[in-house]
Amino acid sequence: MKKFKSVETKYMEERQSLFSSLKNLDRRCFMKVTAAAMGAVLAKGLSTPFSFLPLKIDQAEASTGKAKSFRFAYISDSHIYEKDVNDRFVRSLLRAVDDVNSLDPQPDFVFYGGDLAQLGQEKELELGAQILKNLKAPVRMMVGEHDWYLDMGEKWRTLFGKPTYSWDHKGIHFVTLNSVVERDFWTKRGMTPMERMKTVAGLDNGVQSPFTVGSEQREWLQKDLAKYPVDQPVIVFSHSPLYKLYKNWNFWTDDAQEVQKILSRFKQLVVIHGHTHQLLTNRIGNIHFHGMLSTAWPWPYAPQGMPQLTIQMNRPDPFNPNDGCGDGEVAVHPDGLVDKIYSLWNRNQITVSRAYMVDWGKKNAPPRPNLSSY
Ligand SMILES: [Fe+2]
Ligand SMILES: [Fe+2]
Repeated sequence: MKKFKSVETKYMEERQSLFSSLKNLDRRCFMKVTAAAMGAVLAKGLSTPFSFLPLKIDQAEASTGKAKSFRFAYISDSHIYEKDVNDRFVRSLLRAVDDVNSLDPQPDFVFYGGDLAQLGQEKELELGAQILKNLKAPVRMMVGEHDWYLDMGEKWRTLFGKPTYSWDHKGIHFVTLNSVVERDFWTKRGMTPMERMKTVAGLDNGVQSPFTVGSEQREWLQKDLAKYPVDQPVIVFSHSPLYKLYKNWNFWTDDAQEVQKILSRFKQLVVIHGHTHQLLTNRIGNIHFHGMLSTAWPWPYAPQGMPQLTIQMNRPDPFNPNDGCGDGEVAVHPDGLVDKIYSLWNRNQITVSRAYMVDWGKKNAPPRPNLSSY
């Protein structure tokens, strides 16, 4: 006779098999692993009804311009370690992949916002690449400082190609930048590659230089955008925000104003960034800025310099490691402005709408937090 197994035992066994599968993760066994992950989530009653709400785009607008409304999804800042060091962040990335694969209809593409790895190590980046291969929609990658400073991007480039590139999609011009270029602080100090990496990974150590886009990429950007008229819809991706928020934590791009000058030629333009791991909204002139959520952890809000349009997300529950984390979608309107959707894993989705940005926060404000920040 079959031995009776309690729900708890089954859950523990499923968890166990998930973790042992991670040790041998390849494309073939991925579906098994994600099925086990979902099984564990469901058995534990952790599944949230909030994640997969269908998104309405104003189709009326689609008929007026030549561009069409569409959506893309984003995943960012997974910070994965090698799986035998820490599997929590690996599981979170698996969860994000499941989330995005469950969207119906599927997004046109998935944008990855940088910091895939924690310490830029080959095995971290390879594992991340392997997991992201299981997304159904095509993936576009951006680099973060955690991916780069062990080998100065060698492995990342082998896996994902150039960090700076642009493309056109349904009437929108997209640009991806590497905004985490630092001045050489390591050679004079005789640092090893890992010492350099760990210095960059510690945001508030005062040793590293601030992030920049740098003159080389600014020139490239100028040339790339030169062929477009001022009413061209443009969306730019950067890892760090392309404005100066809080220098002590490197929530900052040092040549932001110079980059903004290049972008400000356009009637309206959207910048979507990673790195800050939180709901973050800003507008400088005609440039609209939106932060992406992290799958690994939410940063606290900076103690000063917060942009006026940011309505902070509710303070994360310190006892729930997934709270304040998530992924999301971007609904792109024909004029290139966006509804930015934050799919927080334990909460209702929050949308920072195009109308909110256009009216400088007077209309359509996202919900205000009822718990103050730490
Ligand atoms: Fe990050
Ligand atoms: Fe980062």
